[in-house]
Amino acid sequence: MIFDILTLFPDMFRSPLEGSILGKAREEGLITVNLFNIRDYAEGRHRVTDDEPYGGGGGMIMKPEPIIRGITAIRSAHPEARVILMTPQGTPLRQELVKKLAHLSHICLVCGRYEGVDERVRDAVDEEISIGDYVLSGGEAAALVMIEAVSRLIPGVLGDEGASEDDSFSRGLLEHPQYTRPRVFEEREVPEILLSGDHQSIERWRRREALRRTWERRPDLLARAVLSDEDQEILDELRGSSGAE
Ligand code: ADE
Repeated sequence: MIFDILTLFPDMFRSPLEGSILGKAREEGLITVNLFNIRDYAEGRHRVTDDEPYGGGGGMIMKPEPIIRGITAIRSAHPEARVILMTPQGTPLRQELVKKLAHLSHICLVCGRYEGVDERVRDAVDEEISIGDYVLSGGEAAALVMIEAVSRLIPGVLGDEGASEDDSFSRGLLEHPQYTRPRVFEEREVPEILLSGDHQSIERWRRREALRRTWERRPDLLARAVLSDEDQEILDELRGSSGAE
């Protein structure tokens, strides 16, 4: 997978990309990250990349020409590249979308700054993605989130086992509780069933706890999750025992 990043702050990417998993994936050639400074596509002695908004109001807007020149350069060298603008106005990044993106061969991430980008940049991209309902000072941190989420689904990046099917969200539910040694910590014990060696019962317990946790913390996820009849029964039971409808 190739990631091309268009940003005014390429330095923000260097240290996170050297870190353990992404650094190793790059060394092994499983992912490539190319950083392009939007300023290099700006014209004039001062290479200006922002300007005041038409209609007035505070803040500065990123000019369209440098970004679109950058996108055009990447597209002409790599017509297969999917160009994505990171913006709080985009499609929310969920694990299902991450899985789809992991099948692409080339992603170009465009990072906005200041109060936003000129509206005409939106016409030059294939897609707009948001990492959540909050506003960052720029798309750089969002692009890093995206690189990490996508990369860990690429075969080989997480080692032999790969991304676990049990990971949070991989099956549309939050993950079940996990324990390691010691068996008793500050008087809190590991649930007996996990010590039983009975793998079927353990799997049932884990599914039940994943359902319980999702129902308690993120009931919105249940509407999208793929649930078996047994899952439905467990949920009915949980709802019944809580006194809720
Ligand atoms: N840029 C600023 N805020 C963002 C967000 N929430 N997601 C993606 N890009 C952003």
